[in-house]
Amino acid sequence: MPGRADLIDGFSPASIKGACAAIGMSDGSTRILVDTAAAIAGSPRLRDAAIRCAELVFDSGLPIEEAIADWPVGAGRTGLPPFFDPTVLLAGFRHLVADHRRRGIPSEVTLATLRDLDLWMDHHRATTGAWAVRETGWLARHFTSRVFQLGRLQFETHVLELPFAVFISRRGAAAAILAEGGRIFREDGQFADADGGSGAIGSAATHATWTSRFVEDEHGWRGSAVDPGGRVRRAPMALDSNAWYPAARRGDAVLAVHIPATGRFNGPLTREACADSFRRAIPFFAKHLPVFRPRLLTCTSWMLDPQLALCLPSDSNLVSFQRFFRLLPVPVADDRQTLERVFGGPVADWSKAPRDTSLRRIMAEHAEAGLRWRMGAGVMLLEDAVRLDRDRDNRRGPAEGT
Ligand SMILES: CC(C)(COP(=O)(O)OP(=O)(O)OC[C@H]1O[C@@H](n2cnc3c(N)ncnc32)[C@H](O)[C@@H]1OP(=O)(O)O)[C@@H](O)C(=O)NCCC(=O)NCCS
Repeated sequence: MPGRADLIDGFSPASIKGACAAIGMSDGSTRILVDTAAAIAGSPRLRDAAIRCAELVFDSGLPIEEAIADWPVGAGRTGLPPFFDPTVLLAGFRHLVADHRRRGIPSEVTLATLRDLDLWMDHHRATTGAWAVRETGWLARHFTSRVFQLGRLQFETHVLELPFAVFISRRGAAAAILAEGGRIFREDGQFADADGGSGAIGSAATHATWTSRFVEDEHGWRGSAVDPGGRVRRAPMALDSNAWYPAARRGDAVLAVHIPATGRFNGPLTREACADSFRRAIPFFAKHLPVFRPRLLTCTSWMLDPQLALCLPSDSNLVSFQRFFRLLPVPVADDRQTLERVFGGPVADWSKAPRDTSLRRIMAEHAEAGLRWRMGAGVMLLEDAVRLDRDRDNRRGPAEGT
């Protein structure tokens, strides 16, 4: 934990400039961050607020979102310089580097991880024209040893939040995924609240729904399973405990996978680059964060909407990324992230949506024809992550494993 004196020093314009240089921030971002540090140093009110914010992130032990919610900056954040938030994070740079060195984490991993800050600054400048960073809660995870970038992908220490239990076949690495009991699904295997829920035009109101049951007894487990297409099937499936064992259920430790955008530091999302990242992940956490014992890898993203694989070429990077995972639906799945990440925000009129890339063109054509894009999720067994050299499709279901 950095002390108050360390933090005061961490906020000095010289320290912020040094951190930016070490990370490889662009000249434009560096200039504004150093100016922000100078503004903080020149105002006792700002300096006290900045130090308190840094203490909350680095010392309080609170979950990141709660720590940031407690920042003493007022609801309107009036009077704060534009890069106040990333400057608070960068004030902890030296402390973070020391923590990584103590854990034996290579410096290239530290720097690759922190470059996400530059990527987000670029993203906002490119999409809004403003020098802004809104992802404080996300980026604070990088600065507190919760997120690491290993090659093309990022990995976060997390817990399984999805209402499913994952089982592994004792005869091989096949998985079965059963929904928790008491969840309401549509006949198409999506949660009833997908696509805006029953109030939304053309969505759940037109779908019949059913409620899942999950039973656990001395013989094993019985419930509604997810099929290889990422849909929950109503017909119950029984898993005998002689043939299956539990891998994870809600609340268990998992490694959450995140996909940084292509940009100055990251190339396209090739299968090889992803496979390399997945192979590194489990040994990395076992060596450098041994107390954290993940039971699965998970990913929740617009990129895991199974509908994409039906529309895009099978050799596209997006479809190839999906094949690493066993897909499952997410509660309250909507198209917000999809539209944000592909079109830069909501699309009011599909006939006018930009079609300058094949993805945009295909997505716009299908949306015009009535398809609703939505978030999806995937899980990957630890065994799958370390044995990726066989380049297989991980979407196999229980039928192949029993
Ligand atoms: C993830 C990502 C790197 C994949 O890009 P990629 O490696 O180019 O993917 P593909 O090769 O499958 O792309 C195929 C086509 O779709 C286009 N495409 C891919 N992602 C796109 C996006 N987010 N917006 C618009 N077009 C996109 C490509 O430009 C390519 O078009 P072309 O055939 O006209 O040349 C890219 O979508 C991206 O940078 N996304 C932002 C980060 C993100 O969404 N992370 C997930 C958050 S949960």
